[in-house]
Amino acid sequence: MKIKAIYPGSFDPITNGHIYIAERAAKIFDEVIVSVLINERKNGAFTIEERCEMARKSLSHIKNIKVDSFNGLLIDYVRQKKAGVIIRGLRAMSDFEYEFQMALMNRQLAPEIETFFIVTDPKYSYVSSSSVREIFHFGGTVNGIVPDIVFEKLKERYQN
Ligand code: PNS
Repeated sequence: MKIKAIYPGSFDPITNGHIYIAERAAKIFDEVIVSVLINERKNGAFTIEERCEMARKSLSHIKNIKVDSFNGLLIDYVRQKKAGVIIRGLRAMSDFEYEFQMALMNRQLAPEIETFFIVTDPKYSYVSSSSVREIFHFGGTVNGIVPDIVFEKLKERYQN
């Protein structure tokens, strides 16, 4: 039986921390879909198309990963894709409370879907998309934190 997993998130933009989690997930599951949330209530730094493009380019080296977007409830999307697993990355204890609550809520809504946590590499434990945007915006260096394609997009967005 092939197991398909969904790795959902805002990915605004994708970071090396996300890529690390996606790479590990791809070794465990037969197919992984990195799915960008279309959040109508929140305008991101990048459009959904830009986020998907950055994710697609930076994950193209992994054969069993696809990139997609979704709106509405995550569990509806997981069911629609006929996937059985939701992947989330954990960086620090501070992530845990929110993640735990979300996993339990999703289980309440869809008991057949499993949330699978992957712990990040310590070198990415402090990396978040929001800190990447802020550091870049104020002229700090994001080398080693984001893939080159994201670095180029950040330059386009914040240096023009
Ligand atoms: O990268 P993020 O912003 O931490 O990802 C959060 C995400 C997209 C996984 C979460 O907000 C989500 O699943 N949103 C879809 C709406 C939904 O299903 N909400 C109920 C979750 S308890």
